[in-house]
Amino acid sequence: MRIDVVSIFPGYFDALELSLLGKARQRGVIDLRVHDLRDFAHDRHRTVDDTPAGGGAGMVMKPEPWGEALDSVLAEAEADADPLLIFPSPAGEVFTQATARELAAERHLVFGCGRYEGIDQRVFDEYASRGRVRLMSIGDYVLNGGEVASIAMIEAIGRLVPGVVGNPESLVEESHEADGLLEYPSYTKPARWRDREVPPVLLSGNHAAIATWRQEQRVERTLRVRPELVPRNMLPEELRGSRGRHAAGRD
Ligand code: ADE
Repeated sequence: MRIDVVSIFPGYFDALELSLLGKARQRGVIDLRVHDLRDFAHDRHRTVDDTPAGGGAGMVMKPEPWGEALDSVLAEAEADADPLLIFPSPAGEVFTQATARELAAERHLVFGCGRYEGIDQRVFDEYASRGRVRLMSIGDYVLNGGEVASIAMIEAIGRLVPGVVGNPESLVEESHEADGLLEYPSYTKPARWRDREVPPVLLSGNHAAIATWRQEQRVERTLRVRPELVPRNMLPEELRGSRGRHAAGRD
């Protein structure tokens, strides 16, 4: 998979040289290239922002550097890769594990990291008229810019790209995968630590009992912290009825 990132802070993406994704890059499974937006601003101060049209607080990113940067990245794309442009934004669609799975099948992703009050709307309109553009939020809170959100999305997507994670089975039993429940708690040795025991069932060698216990833990934990994720047919009878926005259970 090819991934390009455009940002005024390329240094943020040094984190993606570490760990699994860093190894996948060394092996050539993921080809990640980071571009400095300021390289596409031509005045003495390499200006990328200006005051908002119509007035108001903050600054808006100018369209010209973005146009040059994205044209240059897209000119390098392979002929039939059909790159998808992703702009992290608190105003975008919410990025979930399902989104990560969908995007892991793409050949070429381009992340455009906005700062300040955002990017001039005409940049989105221009590239949406020429190809695929999606605004994506990583949650209902506001970051200072798209860099951290892009790193989160690249990690979530990248680890699902075939060949990045050594044992693909380890991807299956995770929170938000398969049945959408949260994962069960994990333990390792020693069997007793600071008077705290590993649950005896995990040391019993009874694989069926272990599987049952883990599934119960997943349902219990999900009901406690994220009841809206529990499928309605897994809910206790008394919680099945209501259908309001904050009601427990999904269909
Ligand atoms: N930029 C600022 N806040 C963001 C968020 N929550 N998700 C994605 N991009 C953002």
